[in-house]
Amino acid sequence: MPRFYITTPIYYVNDAPHVGHAYTTVNADALARWHRLCGDDVFFLTGTDEHGAKVAEAAEEHGTSPKDWADTVVQRFSSAWHDLDIANDDFIRTSESRHHRSVRAFMQKIYDNGYIRLDTYRGLYCVSCEDYYSEEQLLDGNCPVHGRPVVEMEEENYFFALSRFTDRLLAWYEAEPDAVRPATKRNEALSFIKGGLKDISITRTSLRWGVPVPWDPDHVFYVWADALINYLTAIGYGADDERCARWWPAVHHLIGKEILRFHCVWWPAMCMAAGIDPPGRVLVHGWLLVGGQKLSKSLVRSMAAGDGGGGDAEGGDGGDADGGDADGGDGGALRLTDIAPQALTRDFGVDATRYHLLRDVPLGTDGDFSYEGMVSRYNADLANNLGNLVARVATVVSSKCAGIGPAPDPHSALAAVASEVVSAVSAAWERLAPHDALEATWRLIGAANAALEAAEPWKADPGPAVDVVLGDALEILRLVSLLVSPAMPTTADEIWRRIGLTGSPHERRLPADAAWGGYPGGVQVEKGSPLFPRRKP
Ligand code: ME8
Ligand code: MG
Repeated sequence: MPRFYITTPIYYVNDAPHVGHAYTTVNADALARWHRLCGDDVFFLTGTDEHGAKVAEAAEEHGTSPKDWADTVVQRFSSAWHDLDIANDDFIRTSESRHHRSVRAFMQKIYDNGYIRLDTYRGLYCVSCEDYYSEEQLLDGNCPVHGRPVVEMEEENYFFALSRFTDRLLAWYEAEPDAVRPATKRNEALSFIKGGLKDISITRTSLRWGVPVPWDPDHVFYVWADALINYLTAIGYGADDERCARWWPAVHHLIGKEILRFHCVWWPAMCMAAGIDPPGRVLVHGWLLVGGQKLSKSLVRSMAAGDGGGGDAEGGDGGDADGGDADGGDGGALRLTDIAPQALTRDFGVDATRYHLLRDVPLGTDGDFSYEGMVSRYNADLANNLGNLVARVATVVSSKCAGIGPAPDPHSALAAVASEVVSAVSAAWERLAPHDALEATWRLIGAANAALEAAEPWKADPGPAVDVVLGDALEILRLVSLLVSPAMPTTADEIWRRIGLTGSPHERRLPADAAWGGYPGGVQVEKGSPLFPRRKP
């Protein structure tokens, strides 16, 4: 059975999740669900990154300990993922003892292999990034990602000999042209390596909140040095070698582009140093932008505080904590409170939110997230296309076929369209392109709507001609239910039930169950309320 191991970044618990985190997590979830539908053995991991200065600072601001703070914020992540119908197989927290154990084992291995040494570090540090910058990288003297001041740090640290991996990394990139996708991001990683690698500081003495260094407990590991290892902890590194070998290196790391260097340079080198294979694939996606700015927790916070945070399109409205006007009122700027994943699911529904995150911004590019954009895609794709097809088929089956769905025509011209779409959808998921999979699925929905409009069964007298048209449309709804199930799990179940099928599309297996003609006919079709009521534009 093919194996599919997929991960999201583990998110910092300095603050609650926003729609940027939901973007990655929903995409990973849909990919995992697709592979389950294909009968693959799937392991889908997400979790939280709880160590480091950023979390310690947040805890202090809230007058509590890092662990208590993490315990509180982690709930907000797990409840956001629960609300978004995320079906992860495991949730890792880096404060867990299983993670500490793996980090100790992994780092000890690198240390024993001679790739770690003690030295003094001086540099400019951004606490939000948990990363050092050179003078040249700063923008107006501030962090290029967060725009906040950097601090000067000097510490005695242990260093990982990244510079000694230049040739091995280049050879790996050469041998595995697909390891980092898309190609633009691969090139970025390559030029970073070719630009010359410096050894990296991997421990801190200025901080206690971290994994203690096994050979020198005055130090804790730097948060990025421990965080990456989570991907191994969850599959039993250092505890269950057999399990670890089952899933590694066949992993897919889905990440945002700002953490490319850690995943595409540091992480493969760390794996090599520990004597294991580098990760099989890193899939780098772009940013959701609001008013042209990256959505980040620090930006959201400063906007909430009313200082504009450098963004004027949606700032200043932060006092409105509950977003009283849920439908966005007069089409004004997107407000902060609309950006929390839960605000979107409350407003649009879980599946419509998932659909939007999967469909609107292709994995790999940046894209603007806007409330107006979400409403117009909702109306076009969900209300007018999918919702309309379901409603209209059920209505006509009720009026012309006494509510009993007829069987499809085995030789229908739509069978070829369906088979082309099923192939396109599979190919899209295989190349990790959920938006293409959905776009292809909507071509099938469009074909069904067009066939109904051409035949106008609602105007015809009941009889075999009407039955054939409706049977084909019902078969397409069966296929659509299967094909959208990774993206919209509840909607898929609901369509399946309404057209009179038993069980659930999630229990079906592709490609076998996507062959034309699976709709049995002779079953009761239910006219329900609109799946996606049209919204005021
Ligand atoms: O970087 N658009 O955690 P983090 C799209 N703990 N995706 C976004 C986004 C946006 N505007 N904002 C955030 C960390 N993300 C580390 C990771 S992994 C070993 C450690 C998503 O809380 C995207 O996946 O800052 C990004 O990489 C991640 O959240 C960063 O989350
Ligand atoms: Mg970040």
